[in-house]
Amino acid sequence: MVASPTTAGELFDRFATTYDAGRRKLIPHFEAFYGTAVEVATLTLPEARAPRVLDIGAGTGLLSALVLQARPDADLTLLDASPAMLEHAPERLGDAWARCTTVVGDALDALPEGPFDAVVSALAIHHLPDDRKQALYRLVLSRLAPGGVFVNAEQVAGPTASLDARYVERWLVHTTQLGATEHDHAEAAVRMSMDLPAPVESQCAWLRDAGYVDVDCFFKSWRFAVFGGWRPA
Ligand SMILES: C[S@@+](CC[C@H](N)C(=O)[O-])C[C@H]1O[C@@H](n2cnc3c(N)ncnc32)[C@H](O)[C@@H]1O
Repeated sequence: MVASPTTAGELFDRFATTYDAGRRKLIPHFEAFYGTAVEVATLTLPEARAPRVLDIGAGTGLLSALVLQARPDADLTLLDASPAMLEHAPERLGDAWARCTTVVGDALDALPEGPFDAVVSALAIHHLPDDRKQALYRLVLSRLAPGGVFVNAEQVAGPTASLDARYVERWLVHTTQLGATEHDHAEAAVRMSMDLPAPVESQCAWLRDAGYVDVDCFFKSWRFAVFGGWRPA
């Protein structure tokens, strides 16, 4: 019998080969969601030198690749707890891969020193319990350069139980319209079995409490939100 995964990294190791195929079917408003994250992440990067960018829970490199499209000179570090997910990143990042750094480990234990001009993350931090999300937000702030930005493109919880149920229902409707099948939903349900999403309002408050400024939610459609803030210059 195969043992159940006990960490998100172990869980994603099992889905590494099928993860990429379903992305556009399973993330409604894919372009706006990732596009807003990249827009916020690259808005204030230094122009005169290669910006240093850390991607937390980088997986197969989806968000990293989009950052590189916007800033081909970026010096990228990809961190993930799943070595199997990271194994797919070179294929996605092409020639730029040779310039990238990878870190295999848990975000809280293995966060590189930096300083980074931007720290980005997509669909990863919701695997942490709320106290560890808050601890990570504080740690990320300490690894940002002054004026650096943190952007989290995330699955969030509804602010009430009834809205949270509505988020789930809307996700099923929207992804079915995008072509997701019962099999896609069943596989996603296993991947989402360790999800611990928190409401966007709480997470923005945690960022402000940690010391970020200009904290905002820059995009939101039901369960999918892009929020973040800057380290004071
Ligand atoms: C849904 S995938 C997202 C991958 C990529 N960011 C994207 O947008 O496609 C979540 C990733 O976060 C990683 N992850 C989850 N919890 C983590 C943690 N505590 N530390 C490091 N990586 C983590 C998983 O291994 C997985 O690769």
